[in-house]
Amino acid sequence: MTRVLIIQSSPRKKGNTAALAERVADGARSAGATVDSIYLHQMDLRPCDACDACRGEPYRGCIIEDDMQSIYPLLRQADALVIATPVYWFTVSAQAKLFMDRCYAMVTAQGYELCGKKVGIVMTYGDADPFVSGAVNALRTFQDAYNYVGARIVGMVYGTADKPGEIRNNPDVMARAYQLGQQLAAAG
Ligand SMILES: Cc1cc2nc3c(=O)[nH]c(=O)nc-3n(C[C@H](O)[C@H](O)[C@H](O)COP(=O)(O)O)c2cc1C
Repeated sequence: MTRVLIIQSSPRKKGNTAALAERVADGARSAGATVDSIYLHQMDLRPCDACDACRGEPYRGCIIEDDMQSIYPLLRQADALVIATPVYWFTVSAQAKLFMDRCYAMVTAQGYELCGKKVGIVMTYGDADPFVSGAVNALRTFQDAYNYVGARIVGMVYGTADKPGEIRNNPDVMARAYQLGQQLAAAG
């Protein structure tokens, strides 16, 4: 059975990004996957110290003792990841960026531990235009980062919304989120 891990990185637990990500979860479950969600904003997460302890021999991973230590095993076990972020200041949220920086520690002698995983991207933003909003910057960041570690982005779902939950008024983007969940759950 496919395991999907949803990484929610908006501070608004009932916001637009969460609503869209929950639709991805619905689609994944409908296709038989198990789905776990984590809310980064609720967790004790420190930024990367750049100490490079994770590059030492033998490999012992990240040495920062915070909640990222409970996220690393979930990332390793997952077949597919969903990164869900609002656009903040023309790029990903601080929570999403901090999370990505801490994934720097997920490299062993065998290579990047996220290599081969499927990835889905979920984003919402206030402006009507993805270029004006800065969503394109965030998309580009995800493309470059996941390409670098050898993960495969299978779909990106994004749309405009402002007040919490407003994204539900956009049936097209909600339907695409559901389909993304199904794609992530599918084998291969
Ligand atoms: C600190 C902050 C920065 C924001 N920066 C942008 C931005 O650069 N571009 C944009 O289109 N919307 C911006 N927004 C609007 C949010 O992206 C938008 O309301 C989004 O739907 C929020 O998602 P959420 O409900 O999941 O928190 C910003 C909102 C906040 C609170």
